[in-house]
Amino acid sequence: MSAPLDDGALASLVSEALLGIEAQEHLSGLDELASRLRGKDSPFILARRSLGQIEDLEERKAAGARVGAALEQLSAAVEERRAALMVLERAAQLEADRLDLTELVPRSVRVPLGRGQTHLVTQTRRSLEEVFVAMGFVVHEGPEVETDWYNFEALNIPPGHPARDMYDTMYVDLGLPETVLLRTHTSPTQIHLLEAAVAHGTLPVHAVMPGRCYRLDTPDARHLPVFHQIEGLVVDKGITFGDLAGVIETFTAAYFGPEIHSRLRPAYFPFTEPSAEFEITCTICHGEGCRTCSRTGWIELGGCGMVDPAVFEAVGIDPAEYSGFAFGFGIDRCAQMRHGIADMRALVENDLRFARQL
Ligand code: DAH
Repeated sequence: MSAPLDDGALASLVSEALLGIEAQEHLSGLDELASRLRGKDSPFILARRSLGQIEDLEERKAAGARVGAALEQLSAAVEERRAALMVLERAAQLEADRLDLTELVPRSVRVPLGRGQTHLVTQTRRSLEEVFVAMGFVVHEGPEVETDWYNFEALNIPPGHPARDMYDTMYVDLGLPETVLLRTHTSPTQIHLLEAAVAHGTLPVHAVMPGRCYRLDTPDARHLPVFHQIEGLVVDKGITFGDLAGVIETFTAAYFGPEIHSRLRPAYFPFTEPSAEFEITCTICHGEGCRTCSRTGWIELGGCGMVDPAVFEAVGIDPAEYSGFAFGFGIDRCAQMRHGIADMRALVENDLRFARQL
């Protein structure tokens, strides 16, 4: 057994141990050191055990008291360090748990979410508008909920007219004296525009009017019950059918490309006279003839014609003074033709495999 420590040796062991306690950075290290200081190999414990070797009673008591005081001093220092480390570790834990919601996460660790994009119909509407704006047209929008007057009567489709058959839609009960319905085409916007032009004295008009339309159609490869049209209207003095044909051809080449042409075929619409259907070179076979165009090489895009005098009269314009042409065609149909979409229902099915290609 080693000899009991003298004063100097004990003091230097104490200060060495105190430095060791202060140097601890973590609670686990501190606990380890504390148990080593109280363990059977600790110089303090060895010293206490060897107290019995001191023969003089007073001296033995005094030495015992010094070793006891040293151990107490060390355990007080351990407790003090423990309290300080607990404060530090708690603060570090809080810092680690903190969420900084303003923090910019570097691109490399971001979960790729995809950026999204405008719908193909919106893209198509915008590029159609661009083509017409470049040709000198302005863009107007009209309401999707219309009265019978705007959707039919002012367009020369009186109640009971057979043309109403192809424009079946949803009717809205607002408790009003007029019949209110979801518009079946963008042509009623012509009436709003002409009424405003008469009221404000802003004739002539050169406008295109895009928007959503509704019909009680069963969805199939070429029809949707909710669809989009773009309407065109030019009203001025001395407008002829030649102007109409020129605008349609210019538009067709500008939008579909110079190898795609237009042609007009006689048709009937109550609001134009004469009326025509306009067709473009089939964009699938470029006029060769294929299944999509029923081997004709042509695809119907919309209707057009010279504004019927009855329409001018409905809005208070003198048909002897003004003439004009109108046209209307499907925006969805344009998207279908330009992007070779076999089935139009793909536009509304939200299948990401389709949407991501656009
Ligand atoms: N509104 C017609 C339809 O949806 C299309 C149309 C035909 C519009 C001739 C016109 C036009 O402006 O002149 O069936």
